Amino acid sequence: MGTQQDQARLTEMFRNNLELCEVGPGETVAVLSEGDQLGSYRQASLAAARDLGADVADVHLPSNGAEDPAVRIANIGQNALSKHPEAMQTCKDADMVVDHMLLLFSHEQIAMQEAGSRILLIVEPVEILERLFPTAEMRTRVEAGERRLKAAQQLRFTNDAGTDVTYTLGDKFILTEYGFTTEPGRWDHWPGGFLATLAAERGVNGRVVMEADDIVFPLREFTGERIAFDISDGMVTEISGGARADHLRGFIEGYNDPRAYAVSHIGWGLNHHCIWRPDLPGIGMDGRAHYGNVLFSLGPDTEFGGENDTPCHLDLPMQGCSLWLDDELIVEDGAVVPEDMRAPTH
Ligand code: FE2
Repeated sequence: MGTQQDQARLTEMFRNNLELCEVGPGETVAVLSEGDQLGSYRQASLAAARDLGADVADVHLPSNGAEDPAVRIANIGQNALSKHPEAMQTCKDADMVVDHMLLLFSHEQIAMQEAGSRILLIVEPVEILERLFPTAEMRTRVEAGERRLKAAQQLRFTNDAGTDVTYTLGDKFILTEYGFTTEPGRWDHWPGGFLATLAAERGVNGRVVMEADDIVFPLREFTGERIAFDISDGMVTEISGGARADHLRGFIEGYNDPRAYAVSHIGWGLNHHCIWRPDLPGIGMDGRAHYGNVLFSLGPDTEFGGENDTPCHLDLPMQGCSLWLDDELIVEDGAVVPEDMRAPTH
């Protein structure tokens, strides 16, 4: 993003998204940014919201040093807003916050949502924002999944490598991501295209075996070989396999926090424009939202109303799985089954 032309194109793309978010006159939009990070996004959001007739607040905080979103997502839960109560208040008072800071999983983000601000996270590279631009059609399919997930008592998924794990679903918060947001207090992330939830307390039991071509975030690499996770009462009790399993265990141990072994969210991807590669720039939405994946995760659950705010956050997208909600087959060997969740070309 260097030229004026690029900036104008960026503003237009952001305006198209903010239109999906129903931003307009009478609304206040706070654009949250930090240091030199994503300066062109900050300008595009401000211009786009202004174009749509909203009142705009430019909430810009000094840099805290971590500019790369990939570094930040590996160390989430801490951010500069805790030191800037006036900036925090502006965000809480706004109808909508455009987040270019990456508040994901922070207490500050949750406080804004509780105050009624809807939030859209935009930190991905332009190429990814463009290729995975959200649509109303995607929202419809994600919400079809949400309705089923809400009604279900149990989620089970398997794969050919030996996965067979069951999540007992209690009173759960369901996270949907379709890339824009219209409802007060609702968070979303552009690009999106998946949904997820948490099991009830101690409600996960079984075994997950990742295949060699499954993905490990935030390490941004393929598994490389099979890695098995034994799970009892919601906690991983053993990680086994070869050198790559040792490597992953070492990564987790580096946080020195037993809560890193808690099983976190579970869900599946519905974005048919995603590419199965762990090394694309950005924070890895291609893997996380990939059509027909199952996204298995360890670590924090604050985004789902839980108490675990461990900074060790592993998102582990898996291909070729089968997933059931109660007796209904939702994903079969990596293919989405229900008609109202299937992408137009699948
Ligand atoms: Fe996660």
